Amino acid sequence: PSLRKLAGRADLLIGTAVNTSALADDSAYRKSTAKEFSSVTAENVMKWEAVEPERGVYDWSEADDLIRFAHDNGQAVRGHTLVWHSQLPTWLTSGVADGSIDSDELRAILKNHITTQVKHFKGKIYQWDVVNEVFEEDGTLRNSIWLQKLGPSYIADAFRWAHEADPKAKLFVNDYNVEGINAKSTAYYELAKQLRAEGVPVQGFGIQGHLGIQYGFPGDVAANLKRFDDLGLETAFTEVDVRMILPVDDTKLARQADDYRRLLDACLATAGCKSFTVWGHTDKYSWIPGVFDGQGAANLLDENYAPKPAYSAVREELASG
Ligand code: G3I
Repeated sequence: PSLRKLAGRADLLIGTAVNTSALADDSAYRKSTAKEFSSVTAENVMKWEAVEPERGVYDWSEADDLIRFAHDNGQAVRGHTLVWHSQLPTWLTSGVADGSIDSDELRAILKNHITTQVKHFKGKIYQWDVVNEVFEEDGTLRNSIWLQKLGPSYIADAFRWAHEADPKAKLFVNDYNVEGINAKSTAYYELAKQLRAEGVPVQGFGIQGHLGIQYGFPGDVAANLKRFDDLGLETAFTEVDVRMILPVDDTKLARQADDYRRLLDACLATAGCKSFTVWGHTDKYSWIPGVFDGQGAANLLDENYAPKPAYSAVREELASG
């Protein structure tokens, strides 16, 4: 059985980020994406620079292609992402930098962006990463243009606007280095508690899960998930990959398999953890080598789509979950 079949038996959606160029050009990629996964996330094409490259000019074409692919293959779609400091269109960043867009206008632009995008996909997206990567490692709010120009209230506003546009979508915060209990994940815990006390519609905590075997496994992942579960929030792993320093060898692959297994195990042990998404599923298309020099091989399948020990570990874990 495929990963998606096993995940279905465990009442879990198993997802992958999708590189839409590969989806268009590579039939083996289309096949593995459809066969193994019950959820997809756009790796890039739902980001602001992709959907509104010029002010007021929207381009949904690649995102809509992915939605269609998912629909044809009975897959759910995670939305990534509405408010982020990265991959913003130039018209926006330069307008803020040269002062031609002031704070009031920026707030209106953000509201319009969230409303337009969430409405466009209304009913087709089950979870949205509403705000992405809003904290620094020390648990203070990230010094993004959003914080600088709008102040911390942009976060609550973003959730309210998204909820208004699609009341049924589950709305998530999402970040990396928040697998275990640390200053950053605790900042999310406090933020979620505060927002919920204020009646702000935040429903989920997304843990990206970008690990590297050289850093060791963050030990208390299940305990971290549990505290969000106790708050009444859903949890999800949203971008799992486990990189290593190249070259690949059997010891590293075994360590990698173990890290995948342990993240999935924490999800399966948590009632409100209903989706587990990997950030790409083949080493053929991975963001890692382009960003971390000399590292890679982070995915479940190798460059030729051959299953790695991590793939078997995920299968076994799903079968036992
Ligand atoms: O679209 C342009 C293309 O026009 C141009 O010719 C080409 C030349 O470099 O670049 C293309 O843009 C690239 C884009 O991906 C789309 O392929 C960017 O250079 C490249 O930097 C960008 O990388 C993405 C990265 O986010 C940007 O921050 C990765 O593919 C994507 O995997 C990565 O995903 C993020 C999540 O969204 C958030 N969490 C972390 C994760 C990994 O960084």
